[in-house]
This record gives sequence, structure tokens and C-alpha cells, in this order.
Amino acid sequence: MLEISFVKPALPKAGAIVALLAEGAEPAGLLKTLDEAADGAIARALDAAGFKGRKGQSATIWAPAPGLTKLVAIGLGPLDKLTPEGAEAAGGSAWPAISGETAALVATDALDAPVAVRVAMGALLRSYRFDKYRTTEKAEDKPKLAKLSLAAANPTTAKNAFAPFKAVAEGVFLTRDLVSEPPNVLYPAEMAERCKALEALGVQVQILGPKEMKKLGMGALLGVAQGSAQEARLVAMRWKGVTPKKGDKPICFIGKGVTFDTGGISIKPAGGMEDMKWDMGGAGTVIGLMAALAGRKAKADVVGLVGLVENMPSGNAQRPGDVVTSASGQTIEVINTDAEGRLVLADVIHYAITQYDPKWMVDLATLTGAIIIALGHEHAGLFSNDDALAAQVLEAGTTTGEACWRMPLGEAYDKGLKSDIADMKNVGGRPGGSITAAQFIQRFVQGRPWVHLDIAGTAWSSKDTATVPKGATAFGVRLLDRLVADHYEG
Ligand code: BES
Ligand code: MN
Ligand code: ZN
Repeated sequence: MLEISFVKPALPKAGAIVALLAEGAEPAGLLKTLDEAADGAIARALDAAGFKGRKGQSATIWAPAPGLTKLVAIGLGPLDKLTPEGAEAAGGSAWPAISGETAALVATDALDAPVAVRVAMGALLRSYRFDKYRTTEKAEDKPKLAKLSLAAANPTTAKNAFAPFKAVAEGVFLTRDLVSEPPNVLYPAEMAERCKALEALGVQVQILGPKEMKKLGMGALLGVAQGSAQEARLVAMRWKGVTPKKGDKPICFIGKGVTFDTGGISIKPAGGMEDMKWDMGGAGTVIGLMAALAGRKAKADVVGLVGLVENMPSGNAQRPGDVVTSASGQTIEVINTDAEGRLVLADVIHYAITQYDPKWMVDLATLTGAIIIALGHEHAGLFSNDDALAAQVLEAGTTTGEACWRMPLGEAYDKGLKSDIADMKNVGGRPGGSITAAQFIQRFVQGRPWVHLDIAGTAWSSKDTATVPKGATAFGVRLLDRLVADHYEG
């Protein structure tokens, strides 16, 4: 992980310097020092480049002073309109310009400490890279920058303020690592093993195998797993950052963890099937979230549950037409073995309710292709039976830049799940596919406050954005960390 350090402002002798400039602002702090040393040449060069400090604007000046490789100027837009997220985006957009340097200093000394901290967070988030399987990449193609310094008026204050952000970034990186892993490496037992690492942070981790799950009657989850040579796992993680008082209930996050989704006997087409390695994205987010909460010692009682299976076709695989009995006792006619995520969630949600009696539940799942048709890759689909909780999640997503869009639920959609021989079938029709999937899950929440996030369109990105390099996004880690921080701590 990129090392972040806050230092007293002083011009570096080598490497790159990044200057963040508000729109219309005169050079101040270190940039001013640099400009004066160059007899005003820096300001003239920025002017000549048309750099005005507009949001998203950037300019590079090579060799701005003896020993320095470059000055990267990044625009912040008008200072009175600068948000914490805008500061993160500025930090993130600096990363590609400095990643090849051996040293870099961000001149945030002219800005407030909270801004400097968010600039650091943005650069850190953007610096993520999954390269453990590259053995022949040339050194010059790899990022060289191992440590990023930020000039701050009070480095100690900034360092302390940054600590919780660093913990969240570690959670985000854990999620990105899990989601990026290939499916031959990351199968259910291995993923459960990686959850064990959270014990070092003080998280209680409990792993259930097929035997225990069978005893609990989890026929829906086990039906999905039965076609695979890999055994299923259910992992329960608990972070008790407070001692619960009598009557206090934990909050609960639940993730779909299909480590590979072939579709099963209702097999998917070959083209793009490799993407289904990230069908464990919901579980990956729950695990990273638990790491973030524990890492920053959140004052909350939180349970994270992940249902881990591999959905494969084989002589043992479940068939379209099979009827399975879920842990709740409700029976399900499996019409399409590719609608497996909801089967997994059904049993994990029932487990959450019976074992933990949660105050509320949020589940995350790469559940339907239909949510990508509805919302593209810009919003996750949010479904809920509780307006207050839904509003809190929507708001947290707006502030962290992980946007959600509320989708409807309703009787009329639920009707599509009627089965001729069981309590329900696992698919409705194609119309409103994400909604019927949510209706299916709702049948297992027993009226508890619940939010379902369909992250099929947002768990993976095919392009870089300011703070998220392309690939696994860890969508939801920051959002749910913020939800806890804003409403459920203390
Ligand atoms: N994991 C998929 C959903 C998915 C699709 C995630 C594309 C990410 C990208 C899920 O298990 C699935 O196969 N859903 C089916 C449901 C259908 C059979 C009712 C789908 O969306 O096609
Ligand atoms: Mn599927
Ligand atoms: Zn799936």
C-alpha cells in the first residue's frame, strides 16, 4: 500500500511536486516559494498553458526547479464550492502523473488540514493495483512511487485525522483484492480462510461448512453449491466496538458470495463468462467493510455474513425443476439455476434473523443483469421496505460518491413468483427482473427493516475514474462505513 506521510512545508530537492489550485487563486504556500525562486516563471508558465484552476483542469511544467522533475498543477474549482469528495478527486487525478516518480510532494500547505487528508485519501484509493500474477512486467512499466508526502501546516494533526481514512482504504483494498482474484484461487473455502485474517483486527470469525448448514436446513444455499467440487461456506463476522446494553441489537450486513457463476445447468453463454469471478462482489464488500470498521475501531456492534458457493454444472448439479426447502421452511421451485444468488441470500438472511435478531439488515449482491439495463453502471439499485433506512443509505452513497437509486417493490411484482408446485419459484419473467429478484429476497426478511443493494452494474468498472482504477471498485465499503459512522456509532 502506498505510504502516506504528512510533512512540514519545505521545497523538496528531488522528485515531483503537485500543486492544488483553486480557481482564480494566486500561488500561495510552497507554490509561491517555488514561483518566487523561479522569478515568477511558474505563474507565467501556468498562465501560458491556460491553467485557471478550474475543476478537473491540470497542467504539467517540467523541471520547475533544480532537481525537480515536474510540477503538476491540478485545479480545484472555486474554493467555496470545494467538497471533501472534490478534494479526493483532485488527489486521485494526481496519481497517474506521479506514479512513475521516485518521490512526490503534494503542496497542500495552503489548504485546510481536512482538505489535505481527503487529497491523500483520493491519491491512496487511486493507487490500488492488483499485480500479483504479473511476473514479466518491466520495471519501468510499474509504478515506482512508494511514498507520497503531503505538506501540511500541522503534520501531526493531519496524520491523526488521516488514520480512520487509512483504515477504510485498507478495507477497500481488501475488497478489491478479493474481487480481483481468479476463481481457481478464490473458491469458497479459500475466501472463508481470508476472512480469518480479520481476527487480527479483533473481529470474531465463525465459519460454517456444509454439515452445519445442512443441520440448519439451508437447502436453498446448498442446492446451488451441490454441482461444485468446492464445498460451500457461510462466514459470520462480528465486530463489537461497543458493549451492547440490554435490548440493543446488532446491525447486519449480508453479502452474496458466488465465487464463480457459470449459471449451473442453465448455463451462461461463453462470451464474457470470465466476469462471473466477481459474482462474490457483495461478500467481498461485506468483508472489506468489516475490516474498515474494525480497523478504525468503530463504536458499533456489527455483524457481517457471507454465503460462499460456486455455481457449476455437473452430474450432481441441481436441475431446473428441482424443489428445495430453505432454512425458513419455505419451498422453492428452481426454474433457472442461474438465478442462484437469491437462493444463497434466502438462507443467509434467515440465519441473520434467527442468530442475531438484527436491528436492520443491508444485503449486497451482484444479483441481476437487469439492473445494468435499468441503471447502467452509474447507480446501484436500492430496494427497501423501510423509508428511513433507505434514505440514510441513499444519503451516505451521495456523500461517498457511491450512488444508489431507489427502485420499487410491490404486490404486483411479487405475483410473478407464484409456483404451481412449491411456495414460490426462483424467477419471475424478464420484465422488471431486478424487482422480482428483490421481491424474492423480501420473502425471507420477515418484515424486518431491510435494504437490498443490487451491485451487478457497479462492483466492477471497465474504466478508470478519479479515485477508482478500473477493475474491482469495492462499491459499498465506503458507503456503508459512512452509514455506520453517521447514524449508528456512539
Ligand atoms: N450473477 C448474475 C447477475 C449478473 C449479471 C451480475 C451480469 C453481473 C453481471 C446472476 O446470478 C444471474 O445470473 N442472474 C440472472 C437472473 C435470471 C436468470 C433471472 C440474470 O440476470 O440474467
Ligand atoms: Mn447466475
Ligand atoms: Zn450470480
